[in-house]
Amino acid sequence: MRFLFLTGNMGAGKSTIGRLLAQRLSCPFYDLDAMIEASAGTRIAQIFAEQGEAGFRKQERHQLQQLVGLQPGVVATGGGVVLDPRNRALMRRHGWVIYLHAHPETLLARIGETVTRPLLHSADNPLQALQQIAQQREPLYREADWIFETDDQTPETLVDSLHRLMAPTPESPLGIQTLACPIVLAPGIRHRAASYLGAIQPSRVVILTHPVLQREGEALLDSLQATGLPATLLILPAGERFKTLRSAARLYRALLEAGADRASLLLVLGGGVLGDLGGFVAATYMRGIPFLQIPTTLLAQIDASIGGKVAVDLPEGKNLVGAFHQPRLVLLDPELLHSLPTRHWRNGLAEMFKYGITLDRGLWRRLQSHLERKVIQSRRIRKASAEWLLPIARCVALKAQIVAEDEREERGLRALLNFGHTVGHAIEAALGYRQWLHGEAIAAGMCAEAELGALLGITPREVVTELVETLQVAGLPTCLPPLPVEQLLGCMQHDKKRIGERLRVVLLRDIGQAQLMDEVPIEAMREALTRCGAR
Ligand SMILES: NC(=O)c1ccc[n+]([C@@H]2O[C@H](COP(=O)([O-])OP(=O)(O)OC[C@H]3O[C@@H](n4cnc5c(N)ncnc54)[C@H](O)[C@@H]3O)[C@@H](O)[C@H]2O)c1
Repeated sequence: MRFLFLTGNMGAGKSTIGRLLAQRLSCPFYDLDAMIEASAGTRIAQIFAEQGEAGFRKQERHQLQQLVGLQPGVVATGGGVVLDPRNRALMRRHGWVIYLHAHPETLLARIGETVTRPLLHSADNPLQALQQIAQQREPLYREADWIFETDDQTPETLVDSLHRLMAPTPESPLGIQTLACPIVLAPGIRHRAASYLGAIQPSRVVILTHPVLQREGEALLDSLQATGLPATLLILPAGERFKTLRSAARLYRALLEAGADRASLLLVLGGGVLGDLGGFVAATYMRGIPFLQIPTTLLAQIDASIGGKVAVDLPEGKNLVGAFHQPRLVLLDPELLHSLPTRHWRNGLAEMFKYGITLDRGLWRRLQSHLERKVIQSRRIRKASAEWLLPIARCVALKAQIVAEDEREERGLRALLNFGHTVGHAIEAALGYRQWLHGEAIAAGMCAEAELGALLGITPREVVTELVETLQVAGLPTCLPPLPVEQLLGCMQHDKKRIGERLRVVLLRDIGQAQLMDEVPIEAMREALTRCGAR
């Protein structure tokens, strides 16, 4: 077990929840403020009075450094612990950071009297003082691995949710509700797929999988047939070059042969290619049949399986024929990633880095800390699946939230997920969808689009440097393949993100902040591509 640091303002419930959670997890509980008082032999209010806030923060830092040498457990931190960047880095290095958020009104009601709170007791208007403190600290708290809204929750429900987040099981999985479909995450959840079909009541199930996952497919087939459901297993070759209308036609015929009707369910057990292809077939076969996804690559778990975009490629470009067709359910089983080759792990990581750099500074910092701890090294990556559960859940939650707010990409919000994709898709098309994997093209694409942002004066130069250096350490490409610039620009011609002579590109404003720009001149793109290695 690693440490679990609960952060949040005074009154967030860190001590109450921390104590209960430690009981549930059968691990030690530490109250950082209580430890400071015990070590100083006096009350915190007294330390503030005698040494000022600076003196207290020094003791707090020292105590935190001592604490991480103890047996891992749940830690209720003080409200201001996040103010020191060294504390934030230390907590990340030694465990997970969970932010318990509540609005200032709730916090004040929970605190009751303010005499023992040194930052509040002399304020004329405690609510106003609390609002100011909360506002100042909010961006720092948001660097957490997970954020819980606590206003309307009892400590017991919160402990239950936290327990599911930290240790989900097939019997008690982590559920991420989206507007379109439920997403359920737990190691081993694939073995319970049959129990989720009651709500769908399909007339037949057709399972679609890759040759490499044949045994998993057969186990699934057995478990469905054991419940009396008619089920068939179809095995399709893997790879982007099979994401075509021709494969779709082959699948339509296979479905007909298997006796699939409009009430049949297509269950896709595979990576993003099979998810996109299978989803497209499900969207169009007999004008649409339900489908369910059990994604088996990191990229498919955090991205491709969520959001209902399904498509096939044309020789002219990727995903040019497609639909929006939401799966009825997505079952995420991190155990399936154990057999994933390292190159495909990195492929998915590229998308994880994309979520972090465009939307979530905390996730970005978490991934950097994983790099520092060498969790992304080839030998360890597959064994460390517990390390990936929370980042996977975070990406899923981010995508689910964006899709809920902008399902059909009409508000520019969902388009933010396309950072790195304008150039990335052009690389893939120019290479004929061979040689480079999707995530590798996206990694180089992110570097080129960050360079573009810097050229246009939108992306700070240090953000570009941080992105490139981080992706390099992760073993992802940061330069373009030596393709002719004009060929890459030509590929963008067919991209859905091009409007006339100008391009629609997502550009970075900062780490964790991106913006869709509609009027990017082709000339600036040409320069960025050249600077990043195109000929
Ligand atoms: N629909 C969307 O919103 C969306 C988003 C991102 C990407 N995508 C699409 O996803 C596709 C890429 O997906 P991908 O990277 O998953 O590639 P993929 O589906 O080709 O899978 C990669 C390889 O890994 C193998 N594999 C899959 N699961 C495995 C496992 N558990 N163990 C061992 N081997 C395994 C496959 O056989 C394949 O050879 C692209 O076509 C991309 O356009 C779609």
